[in-house]
Amino acid sequence: MSTTLETAASQLSAGQSLVLEPSDVEHVLQLAAASRLSPAVTMLDPWYNKGVGGQRADYRDYILRLLTLAGAVSPHVFLWGFPEIIAQFVERIPPPLSLGCWLTWYYKNNPSVIRGWRSSQMACLHLTRPDATLHPEHFLNEAQLEKKAQGKLRYMPGPTSVIEEPLIIGFIRKSEQTGHPSQKPVSVFEPLYRMTTKPGDLVLDPMAGSGTTGDAARKLGLRAILNDVSDDYVGLIEKRLGIRRTILQSGAPPPR
Ligand SMILES: C[S@@+](CC[C@H](N)C(=O)[O-])C[C@H]1O[C@@H](n2cnc3c(N)ncnc32)[C@H](O)[C@@H]1O
Repeated sequence: MSTTLETAASQLSAGQSLVLEPSDVEHVLQLAAASRLSPAVTMLDPWYNKGVGGQRADYRDYILRLLTLAGAVSPHVFLWGFPEIIAQFVERIPPPLSLGCWLTWYYKNNPSVIRGWRSSQMACLHLTRPDATLHPEHFLNEAQLEKKAQGKLRYMPGPTSVIEEPLIIGFIRKSEQTGHPSQKPVSVFEPLYRMTTKPGDLVLDPMAGSGTTGDAARKLGLRAILNDVSDDYVGLIEKRLGIRRTILQSGAPPPR
């Protein structure tokens, strides 16, 4: 049975995700922008224009289009990529978004054997609209929370902009592995969502790959809309989260 994105999302409880039948990211962003859903966060983790996923000549325009659409959907937008690819967007952020922070994911365990520097980082731009709210208080420990309650916390210590977590590879985090070639660890997405959401908030990941956002949503009590253009990866998400794909009334346009 088919439904609308708004109806399907309104039926989610905290911690639950829905995954759409395979659709193009731009279609899903347009649907979300035209709805009254207002997800707190849109996560953009596209192929990186090198390596897996190949290269596209219009990559810069493509990503700028996605950022423009995402800025109409959410007050917080994350854009992932390799630093040398992401750097070109820092000076081109489409308003009303602006740069909140350059985040780095640092991992030591990349087994690459190329002659030269061994890649050990990915970049993530945290882009914010003027109405975006941050939640550094979600990172306080017990002692800090107690001080805060007593009015004795002199400043709010935020999380660091470098996230150090190993790549999911080989025997590392075996139980989390789904077989997706570019799966991010949940522990890398978690601080991003912790900083930008409250439990019960809705988040959108329109290029969800293996569904890492769904796993993070389950942990943090968020509601998540997931999508991927690949039928195989939507299958991975269904298996990982124990859910079935949602068929929308508007249908899924063919991949571009
Ligand atoms: C880097 S991976 C995402 C990995 C994901 N964050 C995870 O942790 O599993 C990029 C994903 O974007 C998807 N993708 C590429 N082009 C797309 C498009 N036009 N619409 C929707 N998804 C797309 C790919 O199928 C791929 O799964």
